[in-house]
Amino acid sequence: MAETLHARIERALLTVTNRRTGLDVVRGEQVRDVATTTDGRVQFTLSLDDADDPALSRDAQHAVAAVEGVADVRVNVQVAAGSAGAAGSTAAAATASGAPRRNPLPVMQEPQSASRATPAPTPAAFRALGRIIVVSSGKGGVGKSTVTVNLAAALAARGRHVGLMDADIYGPDIPRMMGVQAAPAVDGEKIVPLEAHGVKLMSLGFLVERDQPAIWRGPIIMKIITQFLRDVRWGRLDYLLVDMPPGTGDAQLSLVQAAQLAGAVIVTTPQEVAVGDALRGAKMFERVGVPVLGVVENMSWFDSPDGSRLPIFGSGGGARLALELGVPLLGEVPLFQPVREGGDTGAPVVLGHPSSAAAKALAEVADAIERA
Ligand SMILES: Nc1ncnc2c1ncn2[C@@H]1O[C@H](COP(=O)(O)OP(=O)(O)OP(=O)(O)O)[C@@H](O)[C@H]1O
Ligand SMILES: [Mg+2]
Repeated sequence: MAETLHARIERALLTVTNRRTGLDVVRGEQVRDVATTTDGRVQFTLSLDDADDPALSRDAQHAVAAVEGVADVRVNVQVAAGSAGAAGSTAAAATASGAPRRNPLPVMQEPQSASRATPAPTPAAFRALGRIIVVSSGKGGVGKSTVTVNLAAALAARGRHVGLMDADIYGPDIPRMMGVQAAPAVDGEKIVPLEAHGVKLMSLGFLVERDQPAIWRGPIIMKIITQFLRDVRWGRLDYLLVDMPPGTGDAQLSLVQAAQLAGAVIVTTPQEVAVGDALRGAKMFERVGVPVLGVVENMSWFDSPDGSRLPIFGSGGGARLALELGVPLLGEVPLFQPVREGGDTGAPVVLGHPSSAAAKALAEVADAIERA
């Protein structure tokens, strides 16, 4: 029988030796959650100890990229418990085949010599940016970007000065969800953010073409995130909301290392797998001293035309997660078609259908953020 893709990946990882332990990363139990898709996309988690050479993630990524049938590799680097935020973590995200993409702005170029041992910077205060709040989740597709966009639009509609930073460098959705797609102007040293619904926006989606593979490695992600904070002409903000990629990878670690955050909002669906992943994500923020402001449960139910309420993704997951974390449940947002349509057309539901249950729930989350 032909060897499975999983088996081939494991065999490749057996060749990646950790000099600290003398063991390969499989026997050293540093690899877990290997996930593959039928079209050859691979993702796995690599646990690194503080003392490990950060280049190990690159070696593991290269080894898997060379496996027959693998089209794309993403390594989620996890720094050992207790050291997250302090270690020089280098997450790797790369494609097997893609050459580095060209960027229209010189500030985004890969550094000539990315230092392996870059010390973790002290988070800066960025006082002009107001309260920096990240919207995060463990599992993908639960509605982080939807929640972020609607919170930003709701707060801006109340006259707050709001910025929205898309830190999802692998799948920047904010431009589409806010209905803008243009190259931001560069004024001297500064990037001028785009603006929609009264919200200032910055996204890698403005700078790279759609459908290009993500090739960013840890040090470059740190650089992009720092530049989005420092080199964008945000002006004075009351809130900077940050939309995250799913999980606890390099973007999250980069952000907590780069900036003092006012808090994290955790999004989950009621489903148990989403809740479990969200719990792990929330713990990461707690561990590095970022307060979890609360939980938003999204896709909580569907109001069917016959008047019945259908719990499509189960029920009670958001409340359970909030209880476990000891934080408030900030809102329960039902499944509602205009939420999805508004995301596709750049019209946030809080503005387009303000009296819907979904919009009201999102407005309540905005209230809670203002009170926090
Ligand atoms: N309450 C809702 N009702 C209907 N559709 C929704 C709702 N929330 C999100 N969606 C839709 O579900 C999809 C996933 O949502 P979204 O992109 O916001 O999730 P995400 O967590 O940011 O995903 P990713 O992890 O890929 O960044 C989108 O098409 C969005 O429009
Ligand atoms: Mg998203």
